[in-house]
Amino acid sequence: MATTTDAPAADLAGTLDQMMHPYRGKMVEFPRLPPTGLARNEVLSVMEGLRAGEEARWKAGFASGAVYNGDAEHIDFVNRAYAMHSQANPLHPDIWPSSAKFEAEIVAMTAHMLNGEQAGAPIGSEEGVCGSVTSGGSESILLAMKTHRDWARATKGITQPEIVVPVSAHAAFHKAAQYFNLKLQLVPVDDQFCVDVAAVEAAVNENTIALVGSACNFPYGTIDAIDRLSEIARGRGIGLHVDSCLGGFFLPWAEKLGAPVPPFDFRLPGVTSMSCDTHKYGYAPKGTSVVLYRGAALRRFQYFTTSDWPGGLYYSPTFSGSRPGGLSAACWAALVSIGEKGYLEATRQILDAVAVMKQGVSEIPELRLMGRPIGVFAFTSTSDWLNIYQVLDQLSAKGWSLTGLQRPAGIHVSPTLRHAQPGVAERFVADLKESVAFVRENPDFQGGMAPIYGLAATVPDRSLVHGMLQQVMDVYYRV
Ligand SMILES: Cc1ncc(COP(=O)(O)O)c(C=O)c1O
Repeated sequence: MATTTDAPAADLAGTLDQMMHPYRGKMVEFPRLPPTGLARNEVLSVMEGLRAGEEARWKAGFASGAVYNGDAEHIDFVNRAYAMHSQANPLHPDIWPSSAKFEAEIVAMTAHMLNGEQAGAPIGSEEGVCGSVTSGGSESILLAMKTHRDWARATKGITQPEIVVPVSAHAAFHKAAQYFNLKLQLVPVDDQFCVDVAAVEAAVNENTIALVGSACNFPYGTIDAIDRLSEIARGRGIGLHVDSCLGGFFLPWAEKLGAPVPPFDFRLPGVTSMSCDTHKYGYAPKGTSVVLYRGAALRRFQYFTTSDWPGGLYYSPTFSGSRPGGLSAACWAALVSIGEKGYLEATRQILDAVAVMKQGVSEIPELRLMGRPIGVFAFTSTSDWLNIYQVLDQLSAKGWSLTGLQRPAGIHVSPTLRHAQPGVAERFVADLKESVAFVRENPDFQGGMAPIYGLAATVPDRSLVHGMLQQVMDVYYRV
């Protein structure tokens, strides 16, 4: 049925389509299986062309996050590890006990890095810190929330579960609430962009199963007062999940290098679970993360088992059945080849780049850093007339791929080893200064995404925005 929104919707779909499918009409396409398979060389040469065309931007350090290491030798090395174990499936540890070794050690190494040994019992013991390898940060978070839900139902009879989540926590907590029927109690952040602890305390009730804190959060890179959340969680006998998907492989090393990192891990007795991504600052290829728990009893609420299926006795620790053992192998290879010294050095290089980038932001009078971040950072406009989304547009035109924040509007940067290459942080500062100068001189300039960002952030009917986002995904799957 035609609606009044059809015309703009069609426009948006067209723009998105061009952006997401730039190869259409320019190279071989397969809307169905080829009747006869192509020669392998031919296939590889098509794929090689795509790779070569796409890597220049992230390699040169124009992307926020995305590729956290990107060193050619490191990539070749983890690719070899993947290729060697590409047939492995951890669902079959009888055939691939190597997968069990890799995953058990990935969990143990991550638990150790996050001070699991100070949790009061040895890592991997019944009372000690334990966990699972998952497919990414979102899966780690989803599993931790499901686990706390099932734990609270079994041990406290909670049937209307609620989680208390800072607005700055990752969208995966909203996803968990949708998927697992949890009531999301959103709490605001304070003027330093850390969770308002008094609001957390006020939001807790008899149905609360867990609190959430981030170390650090995605939007601003700030670290919530996990020590205070830990005390609330302990006092109320509820869970506390610390999301360290982004900071887990960064903050421990930054702390050792002298950065002001507050305790955020298993040193704090109220922390019951953590998420920590190996595929971000752990420098593993995309597709792995770790979820950790205080004690094996809690982890058992994550597991799936069935005893009466005609297909046999079945169990799986995470959401997937079959899993890519090659990714666990490559992750293990990344961790053990880099080692503590390598992570320290990588973090030092990134912190050096961040210092240059943050200094650059502070030299621009119309911009202000949001809170006091250590690595990942964000900035906003301090001036009524400087539209930060127009600045983002200008940076995009110069090749940068950064994230626009909303409520309040800002620009987020996840600095990686790509930004630690000589000259990249300086180029960021120069481009930022030029972009702000351009917007200062051309405040009415149109032609980028700024109006769409502005509209999406403020349109009162959020169902329109949801519809737009659904359209994005529909367009993604167009051939
Ligand atoms: C703080 C934080 N938590 C969770 C996630 C989700 O991770 P993933 O994209 O691997 O699912 C991210 C991703 O950027 C993140 O920054």
